[in-house]
Amino acid sequence: MLRALDIAGMVCPNNVFLAPMAGYTNYPFRKMCEELGAGLTFTEMVSAKGLHYGNEETKMLLYHGEPTQPLAAEGTPPLASPLRGSTRAAGDRVSENPSVTRSIDVILRSVATEGSPERGAESNPSVAFGDSSPTGAPRGSSSAGQPSPLAAQIFGSDPDIMREACESEALAPFDLIDINMGCPMPKIVRNGDGSALMEDFPLAEKVISACVKSGKRISVKFRIGVDENHKCAAEFARLCEGAGACMVTVHGRTRDKIYAGPVDYDEIAAAKAAVGIPVIANGGIWNSKDVRKMFDRTGADGVMIARAALYRPTVFCSVREEEEPPILPLFLRQLEETKELYGERFAVVFMRKMGAFYARGRHGAAAFKRKFFTAETSEEVAALFQELWEEG
Ligand SMILES: Cc1cc2nc3c(=O)[nH]c(=O)nc-3n(C[C@H](O)[C@H](O)[C@H](O)COP(=O)(O)O)c2cc1C
Repeated sequence: MLRALDIAGMVCPNNVFLAPMAGYTNYPFRKMCEELGAGLTFTEMVSAKGLHYGNEETKMLLYHGEPTQPLAAEGTPPLASPLRGSTRAAGDRVSENPSVTRSIDVILRSVATEGSPERGAESNPSVAFGDSSPTGAPRGSSSAGQPSPLAAQIFGSDPDIMREACESEALAPFDLIDINMGCPMPKIVRNGDGSALMEDFPLAEKVISACVKSGKRISVKFRIGVDENHKCAAEFARLCEGAGACMVTVHGRTRDKIYAGPVDYDEIAAAKAAVGIPVIANGGIWNSKDVRKMFDRTGADGVMIARAALYRPTVFCSVREEEEPPILPLFLRQLEETKELYGERFAVVFMRKMGAFYARGRHGAAAFKRKFFTAETSEEVAALFQELWEEG
């Protein structure tokens, strides 16, 4: 079940991964999850066209820890909004598009209603961060102290532009490039990207082959199909492998279900049985029990966690049966690092959202959220979160 995983020579310290999440898996969040024990983390999806047009915002999504200067001059947040601007690229005006905003609302509604994350570990305000991570691991390393492999995710459907993205300087530092073939957002799908590629097998194959020609390790994340009547996980996994992908991730829901509803374990198992490359199973994992169930029912080589990590990034400790460090110091450090990197305004908006996730299930969370969302400065965000934790 839990083990190190070799993906075409790239060794991940374990096989429980953090999923790409647009608007959330920025560098400070990925680094925290890595230090808490995620075996591999992914950037949020990045537009290949955005890289083609040299869009600075797109490049910023690929920040991976070096150099250390802030990405935003104070007062000029690079990303207009943590969610709505995150996939924006030249020629790709995602954030202005109401259908994308609606899709994101759907995502967040399902985030709010689904699953039952266990309450996080009690905080221990006396635990303070020095230079080391909450788990004692050096910065930028996994909890096992190994240098962590880097993975980025891109989206697009033009084979040449996708290959060019894989060959770009911006993606050069990444050990693995994942192609998004599962995104259900209408704006993305209407452009022929994301899960639209599951409706055009020949084009999907061309896109993967073109990316493989770049010489990079290429993986594909997709869904079990577009709807109940068109499930094709095994067939699509075979297509990916045939085109040269070195790993696939299967989200066990159809596109029309967005992020809601039960996961089809049998479809993931069929994909696993169909190919020889590592298969990562994704969907509906909230705790260790779900991880075990996913491995047992699918035989997958690894699992990928998305929303549970937003509520409780320490899920990466608990699934490995390690003690979960307290949330308060994690939150304060994430706030500080987000501010350093992206600027005060972005940090306030983003960390209000994260704080609301982390507060779920705590005594007084509803009243806290009302107050918390009025916080205007990072000092206020820190103080209110601290208050909740110390009172709760
Ligand atoms: C807010 C949010 C943003 C997401 N962004 C991406 C993305 O950029 N790329 C991607 O492949 N999947 C994305 N997903 C899907 C997740 O990676 C994952 O497949 C899905 O949430 C199911 O996993 P879960 O049940 O553990 O949440 C996103 C999901 C959420 C909730």
